Amino acid sequence: MFAAHRWLLAARSPVLSAELFGSMRESGAAGAVRVADMEAQVFKALLRFMYTDSWPLETVEEEEFAMAQHLLVAADKYRMERLKLICEDKLCKNIAAGTAASILALAEVHHCHELKGACFHFLGSPKNLTAAMAGDDFENLRSSFPSLVKELIAKCSIDASVQ
Ligand SMILES: *[C@@H]1O[C@H](CO)[C@@H](O)[C@H](O)[C@H]1NC(C)=O
Repeated sequence: MFAAHRWLLAARSPVLSAELFGSMRESGAAGAVRVADMEAQVFKALLRFMYTDSWPLETVEEEEFAMAQHLLVAADKYRMERLKLICEDKLCKNIAAGTAASILALAEVHHCHELKGACFHFLGSPKNLTAAMAGDDFENLRSSFPSLVKELIAKCSIDASVQ
């Protein structure tokens, strides 16, 4: 259970604020929102961002990468555009052969055009694409987003024919 100020939620997230007002209408003064699809630790970081307007963590790099993925999903859900951009930026810096496929899937689901472009750029190099294709995440990408993989391969062959 996390307590937060109504006015703050209203200023930071139209979605969360609407959920809270809905619950207040039903159950009276205090109001509570059940967040079912997010770990408490992630929601806590989200709240901290709402209050401080800065990246909520001082963590080691791997944790930061995982948190950036979780917070991107949360920021998209609650329509917190600035947080979403910060997460995209952090994920962008983590694009590598082992991460590109999962970052690309995340970018596709959450409509992050710049991040998607950055993944495409990275995977546009045949060497990087080959390395990324060796990982399990790429298989998942291929089965969950076949059209995305087609788009990627089409782009690579266009780039190759231009060079
Ligand atoms: C391919 O991967 C290497 C090593 O991670 C990276 O330095 C390079 O920028 C990548 N190529 C592109 C086009 O992003």
